[in-house]
Amino acid sequence: MCGISGIVHSENFGRNLLNSIRNLEYRGYDSCGVAVIQNGKIDLRKNIGGIDDVNLKERLDQMQGKIGIAHTRWATHGSVTQENAHPHLSANRKFAVVHNGIISNYQQLRERLLSEGVCFESLTDTEVFVNLLEKSFAESNDLEQAFLTALQQIEGSFSIVMLSSHDPEHLYCVKKESPLLLGLGEGCNYVGSDINAFLEYTRKAVVLDEGEYVILGPNDYQIRSLKTGKKVNKSVLQIDWDLETSKKGGYSHYMLKEIFDEPQTVRQAMQIPKEQISAIAEMFDGSSRSYLMGVGTTYYVACISQYYISTIADRYYSALSSDEFSVVDIHKGDMVLAISQSGETYDTKTALVNAKDCGAQTAAIVNVMGSTISMMVDHVIMQGSGPEICVVSTKAALAQTFIMVRVALELGLIRGRITKKVYQKYQRDLEEFPEIVEKILNEQSGFVRNIARDTSHVEHWLFLGCGVYYPVAMESALKMKEVTYQHAEGMPAGFLKHGTLSMVESAVHSLFFVPPPEQKELHERTLIAMEQVKSRGGTVIALIFQGDDRAQGLASQSVKIPPVSTLFAPLIQMIIAQMFAYYAALDLGRNIDKPRNLAKSVTVG
Ligand code: F6R
Repeated sequence: MCGISGIVHSENFGRNLLNSIRNLEYRGYDSCGVAVIQNGKIDLRKNIGGIDDVNLKERLDQMQGKIGIAHTRWATHGSVTQENAHPHLSANRKFAVVHNGIISNYQQLRERLLSEGVCFESLTDTEVFVNLLEKSFAESNDLEQAFLTALQQIEGSFSIVMLSSHDPEHLYCVKKESPLLLGLGEGCNYVGSDINAFLEYTRKAVVLDEGEYVILGPNDYQIRSLKTGKKVNKSVLQIDWDLETSKKGGYSHYMLKEIFDEPQTVRQAMQIPKEQISAIAEMFDGSSRSYLMGVGTTYYVACISQYYISTIADRYYSALSSDEFSVVDIHKGDMVLAISQSGETYDTKTALVNAKDCGAQTAAIVNVMGSTISMMVDHVIMQGSGPEICVVSTKAALAQTFIMVRVALELGLIRGRITKKVYQKYQRDLEEFPEIVEKILNEQSGFVRNIARDTSHVEHWLFLGCGVYYPVAMESALKMKEVTYQHAEGMPAGFLKHGTLSMVESAVHSLFFVPPPEQKELHERTLIAMEQVKSRGGTVIALIFQGDDRAQGLASQSVKIPPVSTLFAPLIQMIIAQMFAYYAALDLGRNIDKPRNLAKSVTVG
C-alpha cells in the first residue's frame, strides 16, 4: 500500500517528481525515496519519515532531470527502515524499481538469487524483482525482453515502474491488480498510482487494465498486453476533478476541509443520472439474494443503507464486512453491492472476486476513477466526490450514504412500496439537502466545537442510537477512535441494559443520536436509554433536533439541530459527529489527517 510515481520529460521535470509523491502521501507515509538518472547513472536517495522530513535529510528537491521514479511507502514486507524504502536498486545499480503490491513467491526467488550469489540490502520483495531484471538483461541485452522475462517469474499483485540507465528515455511500467495510470502532458508523460500523482500537470489520463505493460517516453507511449504481446489502444480520459478540491483550501486540516466539501459532494451525488441509480435498484430487485458490502466506514455505510432499504423498499439485505464475506455461500443469481472510496481495498476486492467466481452479479459505488473495483464489477456508480486526502473518510462516506438513499427510493418505487407522490416529495427533499448541509455546517460547527473541547479528555465513550441511528452511531464511534485515539463504542441504545450498563459512571460519557420526535417509536426508545444512563450517574451528551425539550432535559450538553426531513436526520447527525471527532482530536493535538497506524488505501489483507 504505497504511492508510486514516475516522470519522463523532454527537458527537466524540476520539482514535479517530488510534488507528485507529496500528492500521494496519503497512500502511505512511513518512508519515501526518489531515483533519477543523472550523468548516465542512477542517483538514489531515500529514508524513513514523511516526504518533508526525508526531503530535509536527503535534499530530494535537488533531484531533477529528465527521467525519474519516486515512491511513498506504507510498510508491508520488511519493517520501516531506510534499506526497505523504495526505490530499490539492482546489485549493479543500473536498474531501479518502485512497486506497489505484493510479490507472493518472492521468498523462493530470493533463495534462488542468493544461491546464485546475489547480495540483498533489504528484506523486500521488490529488491528480488529488480535483481531478476538485472539477470534477465544480462541474458538478452534487450530491456523490454528483460522486463517481460522478470515479470514472468513473479506471482502476486503488483504495479511496478522500472528505470534503467540502459535506456534513459523510457520508463517501463506494468499493472496487475494494483492501480496504475498514465498522465499525458506536452513533451512530458507521467505514471502514478492514482490521478493525484499528476493532476497538477495534466488532465489527460489513461487507465491501465489488468496485465498491461507500457513503455513510456516523453512524447510517446506504447501499451501492450503481457499475455499476447499485442499493442492495445486505449481511450484517453479527460479528468474533471477540480485541482482546488484536492488542496487544503485554507483549512487547517484536510479532514475539516473535506467535511466542509460535503454540500458540494452531495450535489455531485445528486447529479448522478437516475438511470445509473435505477440500474442498481433493478439488479437488487431481479436477484434472488442480495448483499451490501464494505469494510471500516464503508461497512457502516452498508449497514445504514440496510436500514434505509428496509424501511423504504421493504427489503432486507444483509450488510457484511468485506473481510468476513467468506462466511456467505454465494450462488448464481445473487447480487453483491460493494462500497469503496478508493476502489482498491484488498478485503473488498477479494470478496468481489469470490462473488464473481460464484456467478453473482456485482455492482459498486466507488470514488476513484480507474480503480480496480470500479473496473471489475458489472455496474459501477462513480460517486464523484473528488480526492479524499485525509485518511479518515468523511465526505466520501456521506456521498455514498446519500447515493444509497437514492437507490432505496428507486427500489421502493419499483417494488410499489412507496407511491409516486411520496417518491416525488422525497426527490424534492434530496434536492434541498446540499443547502441544508451547508447551513448545518455553518451554524453548528461552533456549538460542536465547544462541546468537543469540554469533553476531549473523556477516555471512554458509548455512542448510542436506535434504528438507522444505530449504524450512524457505530460509524461515528469509528471516526472518534480513528482521530482521537480515545475509546468509543457504538451500540444499539436498547442493547445497553443487556450488559454494558455496568460500565456507566460519570467518567464514561454517552453520546446519544436522538431521532426527531416525530419518529415516535425510535425517539421513545432512545429516551428510555438516556434515562437509564442518567439515573446510573452517567454523563449524557445528545444530538437532538430543536424543540425536543424532553431529550434536552436528559442531557448535560446537547447540539440542537434545526428540523430536517426524517429522511436526512441520520445523515445530518453523521456530519455533526464527524465535526465532533475532528474538534476533539484538534484539542488533543492529534495527527488528524494521518492518524497513527493507519493508511488511506488498505490494499493488503
Ligand atoms: C475510516 C476509513 C476506513 C475505510 C476502509 C475502506 O474512516 O476510511 O475504514 O472506510 O478502509 O476503504 P475504502 O472505502 O477505500 O474501500
